[in-house]
Amino acid sequence: MKTAIFYGSTTGVTEEISRKVANILHADIFPVIEISKVKEYDFIILASSTWGMGELQDDWIEGIENLKTENLTGKKVGFIGVGDQESFGDSFVDAIGIIYNEIKDQGIHLVGQTSTEGYSFRTSKGIIDGEFLGLIIDENNQSELTETRIKKWIEKVR
Ligand SMILES: Cc1cc2nc3c(=O)[nH]c(=O)nc-3n(C[C@H](O)[C@H](O)[C@H](O)COP(=O)(O)O)c2cc1C
Repeated sequence: MKTAIFYGSTTGVTEEISRKVANILHADIFPVIEISKVKEYDFIILASSTWGMGELQDDWIEGIENLKTENLTGKKVGFIGVGDQESFGDSFVDAIGIIYNEIKDQGIHLVGQTSTEGYSFRTSKGIIDGEFLGLIIDENNQSELTETRIKKWIEKVR
């Protein structure tokens, strides 16, 4: 299956996580500015950190508008959400929820939802039907769990 990761990252954390996942999955990887390349892939992984109080990472503001113009019908879609559950427990990884809401009615197949167990936060737009939309990484507070979380998620989506 042709797989690509599209990431938006302000200080490089989401980019680094995306590169690790791409290496293991043998996926291609692009910054969000190249989102029109989604055409060429069956499985697209959308990666964003969250900024402000529950806002999209900057590159995704335009990226989401461009993504919405693409035909996503039948594509498998996964998410990587990066955030800080301790300082932003009311908007933990909200960005991936914002992206999902914009494309959820376009005939996509969501893959790789994960349990919220092991995280401590109050609210998150990154949750659908009681589960996170994808791989959730918190390098600020739980970096020691990152490698295991990546591995487990990849086993799930493979
Ligand atoms: C000003 C500021 C606002 C933030 N807002 C949120 C937020 O609302 N929710 C969240 O989960 N993380 C939030 N974070 C944490 C970042 O998402 C986190 O540091 C992340 O690792 C940054 O990834 P990046 O370098 O890929 O952009 C915020 C961080 C800063 C500095």
